[in-house]
Amino acid sequence: MTVNVTVTGAAGQIGYALLFRIASGQLLGPDTPVRLRLLEISPAVKAAEGTAMELNDSAFPLLEGIDVTDDAKRAFDGTNVALLVGARPRTKGMERGDLLEANGGIFKPQGEAINAGAASDVRVLVVGNPANTNALIAKSHAPDVPAERFTAMTRLDHNRAIAQLSKRLDAAVADVKKMTIWGNHSATQYPDIFHAEVAGQNAAQAVNDADWLRDTFIPTVAKRGAAIIEARGASSAASAASAAIDHVHTWVHGTSEGDWTSMAVVSDGSYGVPEGLVSSFPVVCKDGKWEIVQGLEINQFSRDRIDASVRELEEEREAVRQLGLV
Ligand code: NAD
Ligand code: LMR
Repeated sequence: MTVNVTVTGAAGQIGYALLFRIASGQLLGPDTPVRLRLLEISPAVKAAEGTAMELNDSAFPLLEGIDVTDDAKRAFDGTNVALLVGARPRTKGMERGDLLEANGGIFKPQGEAINAGAASDVRVLVVGNPANTNALIAKSHAPDVPAERFTAMTRLDHNRAIAQLSKRLDAAVADVKKMTIWGNHSATQYPDIFHAEVAGQNAAQAVNDADWLRDTFIPTVAKRGAAIIEARGASSAASAASAAIDHVHTWVHGTSEGDWTSMAVVSDGSYGVPEGLVSSFPVVCKDGKWEIVQGLEINQFSRDRIDASVRELEEEREAVRQLGLV
């Protein structure tokens, strides 16, 4: 059956890297035809139409059609997978409250449009920053959609953490399992290797270097987004698109036996994260559903860092509450 996939911010840099991979079957698999809905703001519709022309020119066998629109209702009508990439970036002189308010102006109507018209199995991934709180806003305006269908992306952080750890231990990326990102997709996030395994061995024991963990690994992963912006003069795009593909593919097709992934999902209170916050957890996916991995022992080092990131999420929630957005 054809799956409707909506991508917002379709004319942006992540959109350009993402759309061709969706159309080629990498999001949902080689047997699933897709119909793309590209949502943009009016001034960028022409650019999105250009991307649609290129998608057509690629003659992807799985691509059944493309609609380009600046109307959120149309874009989300009947959608099965919604990738919310378009967001308002922070510009000079903008305070955090201004940023949250500007994004509220995007994610509130998009949540309403998803509530009004999306398919009953809709899955939502928010990529646009601040991703966790944008997901919270969208979810708050879609009361008829089960809360577990709203997620935000920390898979890029998860992949970055795997890459850094495998480099340090001179191990294959495929040998790293059970990596965890906790908290916010921001510099306060906590990449946790205490439960990770490398070729079957506990990763923290294999590293056996508390200074490297605290002073190199954690800040390198948590500040990687800023380092990419500094190096490229633009924020990560292809790696972000790749992580979005991974996130949805894993959600739909499941985690491998003996492994898990990281997703920012609506907290049920697990690990002391206040209920309702959209926070990153270790999750397993099966039969198209995610579940938070339970029963992990959290040491004091980890506890302090999880709490710090969760505090930031609570502050963001309070700020959007005061703006009447949740
Ligand atoms: P970009 O500026 O190149 O593109 C954003 C696009 O969104 C623009 O074309 C813009 O016109 C569009 N847009 C703005 N408001 C919209 C709306 N209301 N509806 C539809 N489209 C709208 O940015 P990008 O590099 O593609 O990044 C997109 C977002 O993803 C940014 O917020 C960025 O910070 C974030 N990001 C998140 C992660 C993550 O790991 N969660 C990683 C990288 C980037
Ligand atoms: C990233 O992690 O690369 C991005 O979230 C950075 C950004 O601010 O866009």
